[in-house]
Amino acid sequence: MAKLIAGVTTSHVPAIGAALDNGKSGEPYWQPVFKGYERSKQWIKDAKPDVIILVYNDHASAFSLEIIPTFALGCAEEFPPADEGWGPRKVPVVKGHPDLAWHIAQSVILDEFDLTIVNKMPVDHGLTVPMSLLYGQPAAWPVRVIPLCVNVIQYPPPTGHRCYMLGKAIRKAVESFDQDLRVVIFGTGGMSHQLQGPRAGLINSEFDARFLDAFAPHPDKLVKIPHLEYMREAGSEGIEMVMWLIARGALDVDAKEIYRFYHVPASNTAVGHMILENRA
Ligand SMILES: [Fe+2]
Repeated sequence: MAKLIAGVTTSHVPAIGAALDNGKSGEPYWQPVFKGYERSKQWIKDAKPDVIILVYNDHASAFSLEIIPTFALGCAEEFPPADEGWGPRKVPVVKGHPDLAWHIAQSVILDEFDLTIVNKMPVDHGLTVPMSLLYGQPAAWPVRVIPLCVNVIQYPPPTGHRCYMLGKAIRKAVESFDQDLRVVIFGTGGMSHQLQGPRAGLINSEFDARFLDAFAPHPDKLVKIPHLEYMREAGSEGIEMVMWLIARGALDVDAKEIYRFYHVPASNTAVGHMILENRA
């Protein structure tokens, strides 16, 4: 049977991808960011997942404001990198896992989470930057990826609690899939940042620290954070952090924090990153 072994949460700042792609990762500004992921790269090499369920949000690359699915699950064979205005990132095409993706769709929809099924979708920095941070710059990604795209762009996004419960449904789906697969779930986005308006550039390290401290031991508290509190405390784009709660919900209640990294700033965002492992 498939097994969900761990969760990885990380910011997905587009400038991190640009720094890597343009050979700037060794520059003094970027060095501390990439250094923070060195241990994680080794961890994922050792963990050898077969499949990553990658929770992220699309930034008007695959979906415009014409269609805004709350949760969209990628069931395709592959997902090309999106053109976000400077041509697609020169990263490998993402290979999906349609069998597991369709199984998840069936299981969670019958559990009353009404996902949108997507059979064709380019994937933007929300997905490719976390892949680059954990896997570097390989010729091909050494893992299958099931994209799960969440609306945190247009009000109303899902609540943290809904995300957490969806994570639990995904866990149940994965562990009822009859192939021996090692699965890791990624929750991406955040941490505090605001891109526009009078508060552009806002970062709230105290809020981020409280979120990180509670993430492993007290997700029950985090799921109660209302949208307005994310907006007020973590900035308008801080709402992306509800996506971390999908990953958290898919993990054991007593999942163990094995790594944490926090760095300010990368571009105009607080970079947060955590790895949690299930104990069994
Ligand atoms: Fe984002």
